[in-house]
Amino acid sequence: MASRNGRTPGKWASRGRFIVLDGPDGAGKSTQARWLQSELERLGIRTLLLREPGGTSAGEAIRKLLLEQREVGLSALTEAFLFQAARAQLVDEVIIPALNKGTWVVCDRFTLSTLVYQALAGGVDEQAVEIMSAVATGGVEPDRYLVLWVPSKIGISRRAHRANDRMEAKGEKFMRDVAAAFRSQAERNPSRYRLIDGSGTPEEVRQLLWKQIQPLLPVQTRARKTKSQERRAKSQDS
Ligand code: TYD
Repeated sequence: MASRNGRTPGKWASRGRFIVLDGPDGAGKSTQARWLQSELERLGIRTLLLREPGGTSAGEAIRKLLLEQREVGLSALTEAFLFQAARAQLVDEVIIPALNKGTWVVCDRFTLSTLVYQALAGGVDEQAVEIMSAVATGGVEPDRYLVLWVPSKIGISRRAHRANDRMEAKGEKFMRDVAAAFRSQAERNPSRYRLIDGSGTPEEVRQLLWKQIQPLLPVQTRARKTKSQERRAKSQDS
């Protein structure tokens, strides 16, 4: 992680870890992110759950403008600036201080969302978005960037009961492009992103996620089982 405004996330062992869950709509990220927070807390790891855009007063105001106020016209480039502005505030105000205090951060969406929604599906220049992301984050990179993926058909049907936000209102073709772009980015950059199949049961997905998180855990907690692993072990014993 690089320095930002003179505030550098430390590299010492007690520094918190930064985990991101990203992916197309309806992949189950938010549910899994909540689960991850509770499992980490159960192991005694203080964990902050954040979502993008949001997590700060400015970020929540930008979120409203971006997602709810659909009567306000925004080009994809303007969207990109607004998502990045919310991100810059979140990194400075919340993420860096938390990591430096030893708190772990689980964040629902991060830079890949802007690359996918505004650039690859939305048409903004890809390199421009990468540069904006580098500026907004000051080089702060997740320790694990997990991409929870489901085909857009499943994603759309899982979300059918909910009102569309501005992005979802762009239609099925846009959502198909989004899902395809998440997958191809994750496949092309395996050292940066871990692609996780989100089409299984919530329990199956949890196991896949946990496998990715375990290597980050302090050694003394690595062998501990998750609640569901404990339940399975008990039911096999009886
Ligand atoms: P999210 O909170 O995951 O929506 P929901 O709670 O409805 O699952 O994400 C908000 C929306 O913002 C989602 O449609 C994706 C979009 N988004 C972008 O287009 N660009 C970005 O950079 C980010 C972070 C989100």
